[in-house]
Amino acid sequence: MATPPLKYNKAQIMLHWLSAALIIIMLFAGLVVLPNLPDGGFKAFAVQMHMLTGIAIFFLTLVRIVLKKKLQQPLYASTGNALLDKLGVVTHYALNIVTLLVVLAGIGFALSAGFWDVLWGVYVMPAHTDSALVGFFHEAHEILAFVLIGLIVLHVAGAVFHQHVLKDNLISRMKMR
Ligand code: HEM
Repeated sequence: MATPPLKYNKAQIMLHWLSAALIIIMLFAGLVVLPNLPDGGFKAFAVQMHMLTGIAIFFLTLVRIVLKKKLQQPLYASTGNALLDKLGVVTHYALNIVTLLVVLAGIGFALSAGFWDVLWGVYVMPAHTDSALVGFFHEAHEILAFVLIGLIVLHVAGAVFHQHVLKDNLISRMKMR
């Protein structure tokens, strides 16, 4: 069997940082920018960008999952604590799953509220914002976004722990050079 690489593949590294940046921008846009925009053409444009970027994130996540399965990965970096190691593995799976679910809930929200056509630049206002289905998808989209924030905090805390407590320079595996 071939020796495992010391760092991730360049495509994985690029996709990791691109996805991280887009997800953080989407969380900020969803929680801070969109709710504070007055109804109108600019808000519809902002929602259109939000929807398009979210769908792009969905496909980027699928590509990252496939690359992880297909390419040889660096060895698992143990913390020396079985519980923390488990938490690390669960967090990595959960980050991908919750990202996919946030997007699916967003799609459900846009479809059920009747403003899917905003995606193609048809700036209609939500048609049925008060139905139970719209409420369900909207809640799910919001709650999953907060779960995603929690997972990102855990993920970053893990990276900081490796870097500054264990001092194993784990971040170098995710650097382009
Ligand atoms: C990683 C992907 C995504 C993230 C992190 C994200 C995050 C968020 C957040 C945090 C909100 C605010 C929720 C609230 O408090 O009401 C929001 C709103 C919204 N999202 Fe997403 N979203 C994503 C993808 C999508 C997708 C793919 C769609 C639809 C195709 C979508 C449609 C919407 C819509 C329509 C709103 C409400 C905008 C408004 O009228 O204020 N989102 N998003």
